[in-house]
Amino acid sequence: MKKIEAYVRHEAFDPIREDLLDRGFPSLTITEVKGSGRQEGVVEHYRGAAVVVNVRPKLKVEVFVADKDKSMVVETILKHARTGEVGDGKIFVSTVDEVYRVRTGEEGEEILDAHAPWEIPA
Ligand SMILES: Nc1ncnc2c1ncn2[C@@H]1O[C@H](COP(=O)(O)OP(=O)(O)OP(=O)(O)O)[C@@H](O)[C@H]1O
Ligand SMILES: [Mg+2]
Repeated sequence: MKKIEAYVRHEAFDPIREDLLDRGFPSLTITEVKGSGRQEGVVEHYRGAAVVVNVRPKLKVEVFVADKDKSMVVETILKHARTGEVGDGKIFVSTVDEVYRVRTGEEGEEILDAHAPWEIPA
């Protein structure tokens, strides 16, 4: 399993969401975050500690997928998040060991299986 963690512009979310839904991936988590990339981070010193100022709002989009689905989800995010301007964001991919569905106690990659579009509640 992979965790795909993308930091993107807010405007990128709707097209990413729509495309992933169309492909049968309704499950994701988003968090409003603030961060700095290369240019935005201005380091200042406060009482001896380095402090990064001038952080900008981004959306963190997290999707956990089976290995076989990773490239498609990454490509989908890249496609919609890229404007070509500085600050388009970043995508981090990491390996995930375990997943459990709380309701049933099931575990394993199978419970991440992409829902068929007709199984998605309206
Ligand atoms: N190394 C990192 N660790 C943690 N968060 C990061 C890291 N790099 C980027 N981010 C997050 O991603 C957001 C978007 O970064 P940003 O798009 O500015 O990346 P960049 O590498 O500076 O690329 P660009 O040149 O397009 O600006 C940041 O605001 C921050 O929230
Ligand atoms: Mg940047």
